[in-house]
Amino acid sequence: MYNREAALVFNSGYHANCGILPAIANKNDIIIADKLVHASIIDGLTLGSAKFERFRHCDYNHLEKLLEKHARNYEHIFIVTESIFSMDGDCADIPKLIALKKKYNAFLYVDEAHAVGVRGAQGLGLVEEYNCIHDCDFIVGTFGKAISSVGAFVICDEIFKPFLINHSRTFIYTTALPPINIAWTRFIMQQLPYFQKQRKNLQLLAQEFSKLLQVPATSHIIPYIIGENDKAISIAEELQTQGFFVLPIRYPTVAKHTARLRFSLHANISHNELRTIATFLSKKA
Ligand SMILES: Cc1ncc(COP(=O)(O)O)c(C=O)c1O
Repeated sequence: MYNREAALVFNSGYHANCGILPAIANKNDIIIADKLVHASIIDGLTLGSAKFERFRHCDYNHLEKLLEKHARNYEHIFIVTESIFSMDGDCADIPKLIALKKKYNAFLYVDEAHAVGVRGAQGLGLVEEYNCIHDCDFIVGTFGKAISSVGAFVICDEIFKPFLINHSRTFIYTTALPPINIAWTRFIMQQLPYFQKQRKNLQLLAQEFSKLLQVPATSHIIPYIIGENDKAISIAEELQTQGFFVLPIRYPTVAKHTARLRFSLHANISHNELRTIATFLSKKA
């Protein structure tokens, strides 16, 4: 589907991020990751022997400073980002990251967990939307979100595939997913190109909801900041009793006093439902 040389399936996104990063980068290398990358990436960083640093969230000037500082001191540099960030729903500037990767001769690793299925003409993610599938060295996608299955994949050059099969511990030292899961995933992935109408609708719904809540949004994940943990929990519970499955995201998953409701929209929600939620929240403010 990606028209690239190789793909490898992992048991989950957690297995993929925890297994690939320690395998591809060693003690002579450095990994520079966005400050807000997912816990599975952080665990991958800490499990490996490469040095790692974090750049301020989506601050590519800061990233460039780190690249300048480290470019000559390490054999390989890896830039790691999510494409749609899981907690804030904002998007990485992938073309900018590609320019930096080229300038500093680095590898680019993009976690597309929240973009696969919902972005790009064929649903292949933000890398497809930005027309840069061939410029990213590692594209990780998960099957547990829009694909409604379980598992994950990495898209890479052929040279990395046998290497990952042999060196990625979370690939080799665990039993593979059952064939029935793989068959379901395959079935859904084959349908992806035909969900264009739903993808378009999802974007329109996200734009509308963003206006209603007065929260800027560039994806279907829309955070509504409440502040304190207890309040976020009780408002989420009230919405759940009204039939809206929204979850509170609390400290320590996010910074203190930024507990939030994390709306993750799907394409079949109605305009009326969005308005009901917005009216309810305006009364709570
Ligand atoms: C950005 C990101 N990457 C990876 C994962 C892990 O994927 P999985 O649930 O398949 O382990 C998640 C969340 O689950 C995520 O939000």
